[in-house]
Amino acid sequence: MIKIADLTFNVLEGNKKRQILNIPNYVFDEGKINVICGPSGSGKTTLLYALGGILEISSGTVTISGTSVYSLKQQERDHFRMKHISMIYQNFNLFSFMTVEENILAPYFIRGLKVDQKVKQKVADYLKLMNLGKIQNKSISALSGGEQQRVAIIRSMILKPSVILCDEPTASLDSENTIRFMQSLIALNNEKPTTVIIATHDEKVMRFAENKIQMVDGKIMK
Ligand SMILES: Nc1ncnc2c1ncn2[C@@H]1O[C@H](COP(=O)(O)OP(=O)(O)O)[C@@H](O)[C@H]1O
Ligand SMILES: [Mg+2]
Repeated sequence: MIKIADLTFNVLEGNKKRQILNIPNYVFDEGKINVICGPSGSGKTTLLYALGGILEISSGTVTISGTSVYSLKQQERDHFRMKHISMIYQNFNLFSFMTVEENILAPYFIRGLKVDQKVKQKVADYLKLMNLGKIQNKSISALSGGEQQRVAIIRSMILKPSVILCDEPTASLDSENTIRFMQSLIALNNEKPTTVIIATHDEKVMRFAENKIQMVDGKIMK
């Protein structure tokens, strides 16, 4: 479960305090596709950072799978994040000089985990599920933007995180690839339920939301 309580984030502008986030309480739908929508500047990205444990919040708590993230010491928090949270960005953030398989397995390499035949088979199965076929050994730079973003979904899910945070994941995609991206995310989520939280102002993405969250001026509208 992902729960927010009494969360605020303020910044100083000159000597005046400006409130960027103010969320008294909110619980995201577990194992579902949660979509945060709202105009530019409403605090969507900042909220994702707060959920990801990478924002120095001003007050409040963020609890993920029973752990109060901001009660952890910095190093423990980094460790928790590695284990439980993955992110998908607007610009894919894949390594262009590496193959598709190497990109998907990057989370294994970073953590020093062993890659055996079973893991490689899992990669092949996911590629098939995402309609990507046998492209394991292709270079990332040989793929279209839409294909790259589907590879990014597989990479984000490969180690079974508790939560996947996506910041404007379809901003660089056309309509057709946006729909394909969402369908692929849902297909993989049906296979292995994970709490997905997407920040977007894309109407096409909102249509796929199982739980829709409207933000205005740093607040969640009920
Ligand atoms: N560290 C910061 N310092 C000052 N202002 C910030 C900081 N982080 C975010 N903001 C401001 O908070 C508001 C919300 O930003 P953001 O979360 O990026 O909105 P969105 O993603 O909905 O477009 C913006 O006005 C932005 O300029
Ligand atoms: Mg944003």
